[in-house]
Amino acid sequence: MTAYDKPPELYDGLRLHQNENTGGCSPRVLEALAKLRPDEVGFYPPYAAATRACAQYLGVDPDALALTNGLDEGIMGLAVAYLRPPVGGPIPEALVPEPAFEIFRVDTDVVGGHLVQVMPTPDFTFALDEVLAAITPRTRVVFLTNPNNPTGVSMPLDAIRQISRRVPREAVVFVDEAYAEFAGTTFISELPAFPNVIVGRTFSKAFGLAGLRIGCLVGASAVLDPVRAVIPVYSVNIAAVVAVQAALADRGYLHDYLRQVQESKRLLYAACDRVGLKYWKSDANFVLVCAGDRLRALVKGAADRGIYIRDRSSEPGCDGCLRIGTGIVEHTRRFIAAMEEVLCAAP
Ligand SMILES: Cc1ncc(COP(=O)(O)O)c(C=O)c1O
Repeated sequence: MTAYDKPPELYDGLRLHQNENTGGCSPRVLEALAKLRPDEVGFYPPYAAATRACAQYLGVDPDALALTNGLDEGIMGLAVAYLRPPVGGPIPEALVPEPAFEIFRVDTDVVGGHLVQVMPTPDFTFALDEVLAAITPRTRVVFLTNPNNPTGVSMPLDAIRQISRRVPREAVVFVDEAYAEFAGTTFISELPAFPNVIVGRTFSKAFGLAGLRIGCLVGASAVLDPVRAVIPVYSVNIAAVVAVQAALADRGYLHDYLRQVQESKRLLYAACDRVGLKYWKSDANFVLVCAGDRLRALVKGAADRGIYIRDRSSEPGCDGCLRIGTGIVEHTRRFIAAMEEVLCAAP
């Protein structure tokens, strides 16, 4: 079975390897958590207010939104709901355009689905024709990520429309929008016209709530209800419920982080140009950089200086590549200084 290659627990340095908000959450979140009463912790959590707040933020009806314990739980719920082989029936297929968030592969395998990978184009533009050609009568989930992880490259929304029209009646198209805040693009407003699409969102990235685990799925009840049915009833805890409302109420904090992400990417692109490293322009809060034969030296040199970045070289199409979080400007500057030191010292 494919196991998730969980990154080691490195908390003693600068974490630029898991696409987190290294500035942390809004101070308003901590204030809200400090106000939690013992009885609120003692009771099973209520979800109506948090669901309303998330639905309002995303511009949808609360009935079209299901809170999840991180988007990870939503993805596993989707796999359990749609990719388990029916007794005596054909094995459901999950279609994954690569390179992709590795959890899609892992969850498909865990539930016994069949993984169909579509290999990337050299510049990571979306391989629409290949994806359409890979759809079969057994396709049950198409896993899309916009903007993509680990490339940071966005896909055209029209590709989602075309895939949605082409899949079998029993299938869903999942659009993972974990990094949508950074791109400023979403498929959510089109969901009424494409009722077999489910959009996934997380509060781990732009809102800095990764440690609390909260995300959501958005879609029509016909496609969302089978997922709701397999997710534990109280999987989102009261701290996450309180935190997400406080985070959503502090848009100034969000916008400051989004501004820093833009500036960080600009600084990193310029630094890569200076040292001659290829990179892909990213619409997310990280950048995929091709370090080629300098990859190991860079990952180790950065770690020796207390900065963690992620080796993605084993992902399809990512030979020699690493992924670097580009959030808080001061953190990006620290990485750039380390990178220049390591690469200049290298023979
Ligand atoms: C594309 C994508 N989807 C989902 C997730 C998981 O998000 P969460 O922290 O909400 O489980 C991540 C986290 O890295 C991601 O990159």
